[in-house]
Amino acid sequence: MKFAVFASGNGSNFQAIDAAVKNGQIKAELALLFSNNRKAYALQRAQDAGVPTLELVPKEYANPQSFERDLVIYLKEHAIDFIVLAGYMRILTPYFVREFPGKILNIHPSLLPSFKGMNGIKDAFTYGVKTTGVTIHFVDEKMDHGPIILQESLAIREEDTLETLEVRVHELEHQLYPQAIALFSEGKLKIKGRKVHIISL
Ligand code: GAR
Repeated sequence: MKFAVFASGNGSNFQAIDAAVKNGQIKAELALLFSNNRKAYALQRAQDAGVPTLELVPKEYANPQSFERDLVIYLKEHAIDFIVLAGYMRILTPYFVREFPGKILNIHPSLLPSFKGMNGIKDAFTYGVKTTGVTIHFVDEKMDHGPIILQESLAIREEDTLETLEVRVHELEHQLYPQAIALFSEGKLKIKGRKVHIISL
């Protein structure tokens, strides 16, 4: 199995996923880091890790469809089996999602369906919830919506600032995402409606 990670920014999840491939936790080939942002630090991390990179910038295309068409062609030419969104801050169109049905995973830094969108950690913190967390889910045609693979909660402490909470959410992400990718790449996830069953083979 070959997979691509999509990232738009820092790429700390990419780094954790790459480490999990290299230590054998994930038994699939990390074949590509794709970014829609030439300035993404994730690109630098991938180069340092020896992972091939691709940059395509949407505003250099006439429309979102032609951008995604080029991306799909590249992914199919390189025999990418599945896609892992890790801080990819752009909504995939239904066209793209239909090209990889049940084969796109996303991580979101809150307990979905609460605090969807770009600022999950901050939105939960400022709302004043006592518990937040991390969700890993399959991508469908609606934002932050598809069937949930793994979800883990995190208590917000009295002394937490947004910064300390961000650190703890990211630490949890870096543990949880490799687990979910390992389960998927070993064929242990079965989607039934909104539920994802973890099967032991
Ligand atoms: C992560 O916290 C991820 O959950 C979040 O972006 C961050 C990327 O960090 N994704 C979303 O909010 C998607 N809606 P990273 O670039 O260091 O991996």
